[in-house]
Formats: sequence, structure tokens, C-alpha cells
Amino acid sequence: MRLTNKIALITGGASGIGEAMCLRFAQEGATVIVADIAKEQGLTLAQNINQQGGKALFIKLDVSQQSQWQVAINQIVKQYGQLDILVNNAGIAIPGTVEDCTLADWQRTQLVNSDAVFIGTQIAIKTMKAAGGSIINVSSIEGIIGEPKAAAYNASKGAVRIFSKSAALHCAQSGYNIRVNSLHPGYVATPLIANAVASMPESDALEFQQRVLANIPMARMAQSSEIASAALFLASDDASYMTGSELIIDGGYTAH
Ligand SMILES: NC(=O)c1ccc[n+]([C@@H]2O[C@H](COP(=O)([O-])OP(=O)(O)OC[C@H]3O[C@@H](n4cnc5c(N)ncnc54)[C@H](O)[C@@H]3O)[C@@H](O)[C@H]2O)c1
Repeated sequence: MRLTNKIALITGGASGIGEAMCLRFAQEGATVIVADIAKEQGLTLAQNINQQGGKALFIKLDVSQQSQWQVAINQIVKQYGQLDILVNNAGIAIPGTVEDCTLADWQRTQLVNSDAVFIGTQIAIKTMKAAGGSIINVSSIEGIIGEPKAAAYNASKGAVRIFSKSAALHCAQSGYNIRVNSLHPGYVATPLIANAVASMPESDALEFQQRVLANIPMARMAQSSEIASAALFLASDDASYMTGSELIIDGGYTAH
């Protein structure tokens, strides 16, 4: 029970990696706020957690809308009196090389994957500054290394990586007990990857899948629960001296 009495907000909590984090954090004693645009999925997950003896609440939140963040945080503070953990996990992947990517796809990607992380981190710092907390920004190995078919996604995740360091330094220098770290999963079997592959032309999809699998030293994609374990570490006091760091969970992908 590493998160007893903690209030944790997880964006994109209704599916994939976010869902696994909600389940794991709840098992570890946290009250989990499942925040997502997918209302049915989010409500069902919160209900399941509550039925299994955990504590969860669903809040509909489009992370790209600043006004919705304020409403969500107000509700959390009113109901629970505090926010201890924020995981900025919601994200989208629209495949495209630098030549294929439209400006609209580029801007949509930056809005959800990068602008929203700024908005969430800013409002969480304001909420956590008195009592402290942990902010985990979900980047990707693609925030560190390039992928030819993910120009906009690469840019958005690179922004999350370096922005997290800036926010971490600011919090430390200001004397806030708030840690900010970025999390960099490799390839994880979730709807995000399945949908991105499905939207590619067939030959591109095949090339992408073969190349990616061939380059994972552990020869398999990650399970969402394996990423949730890393997030749990960053969220808990076990990571009490860790801020401004990047935690890579990629089966060895970026080791070569
Ligand atoms: N799957 C991977 O291989 C992989 C690898 C590295 C990083 N990531 C990152 O992990 C995070 C989670 O990805 P996933 O694979 O679990 O994807 P997923 O598609 O399974 O889940 C993403 C969730 O985010 C929600 N979401 C999308 N836009 C939103 C918005 N505007 N506001 C609120 N919620 C929104 C979706 O409804 C969905 O529930 C993303 O940031 C992704 O970029 C994924």
C-alpha cells in the first residue's frame, strides 16, 4: 500500500496505460480520479475499481481545454481537500512523416500531447504547492529518439521531456516539495498503437511493425501494467530524491 491516503489524477485514464495506472494506484491505496474524454469507458473503470474495494471517481476532462482543468481541480479539492499525484498520460498518435504530416495533424498533436501537459502541470503546481506532490508526464522513447513515421508525435513528446525538467527545476528552486519527472515507455500493446498502425497504408504498417519488433532487445512489446509499475515508483515516496529525471521502460530499445 504505497499510496495510502493519496489523491491521484490520471488523465487518459480510461484506456491502455492510463487504465493500468488507475488499477495499480487504486490497489496501492490511492483514491484515483479517472479523467478522460471517453465517458462510458471511464465510468465503467471507476465503477469496477469501487466494486473491487478501491476508491475511484470518473471526471470528464478534455485535457486540451484549460477551462475544463479548472473545473476538474475545483471538484477534486472540494471533494478530497487535496491533490497529491498528477499523471499527464492522455495522448494521441497520428502517423506521418515530415512530408506527409498536415499542419492540422501537427497542431492537434501538439495541443493534446504537449500543450495539455503544460496546462495540467501548471494547475497542479498551484494546487500542490503548499503540501507537495508528484507530477508524472508521460513522454515516450519517441521523445528521445526519432521515428520517421511520427514527425508530429516525436516533436510533442520531446517537448514533454524537456518541459518536465524546467518545471522540476522551478519547483525545487521555489522550495516546493513537488517532484516532476517524465516517463518514457517503449512500444506498449494498447489501442493507441493498434489504431495508429491501422491508419497506415498496408505496406507502411507491415514495415513499421517488423522494424519495431526486430529492434526490441527483449523481443516483445510491453504490457501496460509494466508501465504502471514505473509510474507507481515515481508517484510514491520511494522516488523521494528523484526530480527532473526521465525514466525509460522500453525492453532495451534505446540501449543501442
Ligand atoms: N502505447 C505505446 O506504445 C506508447 C508508448 C510510449 C508512450 N505512450 C504514451 O502513453 C500515453 C497513453 O497511451 P496509450 O497507449 O495508453 O493510449 P490509449 O489510446 O489506449 O489511451 C489514451 C487515452 O487518452 C484519452 N484521450 C485522448 N485524447 C484526450 C483528451 N484530449 N483529453 C482527455 N483524454 C484524452 C483517450 O480517450 C484514451 O482513453 C500517451 O501519452 C501515449 O503517447 C504510449
